[in-house]
Amino acid sequence: MTYIIIESLYKIYQGTVETVALENFNEKIDKGEAVAIAGPSGSGKTSLLSCIGGVLKPTSGRILIDGIDITKLSDDELVDYRRDQVGLIYQDFNLIDEFSIYENVVLPMLIAKKTKSEIEARANELLEALDIQRYIKTFPNYLSGGEKQRVAIAVALANDPDIILADEPTGNLDLASRENVIDILTTKCKDLNKALLIATHDPFIMKKIDRIIDLPKLIR
Ligand SMILES: Nc1ncnc2c1ncn2[C@@H]1O[C@H](COP(=O)(O)OP(=O)(O)OP(=O)(O)O)[C@@H](O)[C@H]1O
Ligand SMILES: [Mg+2]
Repeated sequence: MTYIIIESLYKIYQGTVETVALENFNEKIDKGEAVAIAGPSGSGKTSLLSCIGGVLKPTSGRILIDGIDITKLSDDELVDYRRDQVGLIYQDFNLIDEFSIYENVVLPMLIAKKTKSEIEARANELLEALDIQRYIKTFPNYLSGGEKQRVAIAVALANDPDIILADEPTGNLDLASRENVIDILTTKCKDLNKALLIATHDPFIMKKIDRIIDLPKLIR
């Protein structure tokens, strides 16, 4: 069975105006696949990633992860799902500025109650893989954008989730670090057999992924 199966997904925001962000969206994405979520601004890329990441409840439809419909999970079950099965990467890095690089990387593992030896081994492995070991005592604000995003990738991979969701991960990076960050992200996710979904407009990313899922801008 395909790892991620999305069936008849709708996300409709109710405000002063009703906004249809996703309309009858269907897709299958497997582990080991890297896909780009493309489409114009407002086409629902962030909404889709948020629904798959269990941070946003869709209006209707099913999201099967390894056969389990996450739209039916309780709040407690969703906390476990997000912690164990999802790694998130954002445009603005989302690191904790008051924490050192090492502390940022180990925090998800502390929350997941991993053992001390497990945490140390995993942190060292990630810091080395992402070439950020020399910054362990440094704080995020002293790093370049590309270095911060490499730390964010380490944080996302910390608990070894099956799904990595990246929302415009190169949006705040210059050309050189864009290439470096995307090379590392796509290579690591492939090697580790993750399902990688990247919401992006970046033509460079399009060359590095397996396929593109184009979201139409819905006419309301
Ligand atoms: N919390 C919200 N409340 C109401 N409407 C929302 C909310 N979040 C998003 N929307 C609307 O839903 C639609 C899809 O938004 P979304 O952020 O998913 O698009 P996007 O493809 O990520 O856009 P961008 O490329 O600008 O990031 C837009 O019309 C947006 O205004
Ligand atoms: Mg968005």
